[in-house]
Amino acid sequence: MSNVLIAPSLLSSDFADLKTEMAKVTEAGADWLHVDVMDGSFVPNITLGMPIVKAMKPYAKIPLDVHLMIDQPERYIEEFVRAGSDYLTLHVESTSVMKQSLEKIRSLGCKPGVTLRPRTALEELKPFLPLVDLVLVMTVEPGFGGQSFMENQVEKIKTLKKWRSEGVGNYLIQVDGGVASGTSKVCIDAGADVLVAGSAVFKGEKSVENYRKNIVALKG
Ligand code: DX5
Ligand code: ZN
Repeated sequence: MSNVLIAPSLLSSDFADLKTEMAKVTEAGADWLHVDVMDGSFVPNITLGMPIVKAMKPYAKIPLDVHLMIDQPERYIEEFVRAGSDYLTLHVESTSVMKQSLEKIRSLGCKPGVTLRPRTALEELKPFLPLVDLVLVMTVEPGFGGQSFMENQVEKIKTLKKWRSEGVGNYLIQVDGGVASGTSKVCIDAGADVLVAGSAVFKGEKSVENYRKNIVALKG
């Protein structure tokens, strides 16, 4: 079994029973909890915001990994950090003040991350890599869970690993979108450190045993 970290995306959990879902998936071996924030503008879907992250925090025994899919995220950085985000990841397409935003996240005691849509070139991220703890490679178009893995994004994982070995930065490489037991191996082999998975973790029975089985299957 690989030692890749697993960050279940709560987007596929039962939102009406979030506290229980968090506890079950944590007991099942999750390493982080991935929280997808969507505003209906940067992406077509709307999910949740700072009050929910704040409500979750007292029950989170593992890091809260917050993925912001919102326009001008700089407006809300402070609130998301204060709500209890451990990692806060911003889309390069969503802000014109990325450097200041990442620096602000760090100055508030949170770990900054950066990400990009599948059609965005990795070079767009390069200037920001020395500033982040996490780089997220999107393997679906952001907005919805349950989409198919885009194999053509795997090259970005390999390039990020190569750049890191050349000293460009010191970040974890995370993959998000369509990661399931088959596609997880491709990501691990390419150099992924953290796998986000929604449907692949929360599918089937809502029990610790089932979630554990799903998580183990992702680790390969
Ligand atoms: C998509 C989100 C993902 C999503 C992944 O915009 O960023 O985190 O929940 O879901 P699956 O694993 O089902 O593709
Ligand atoms: Zn996500």
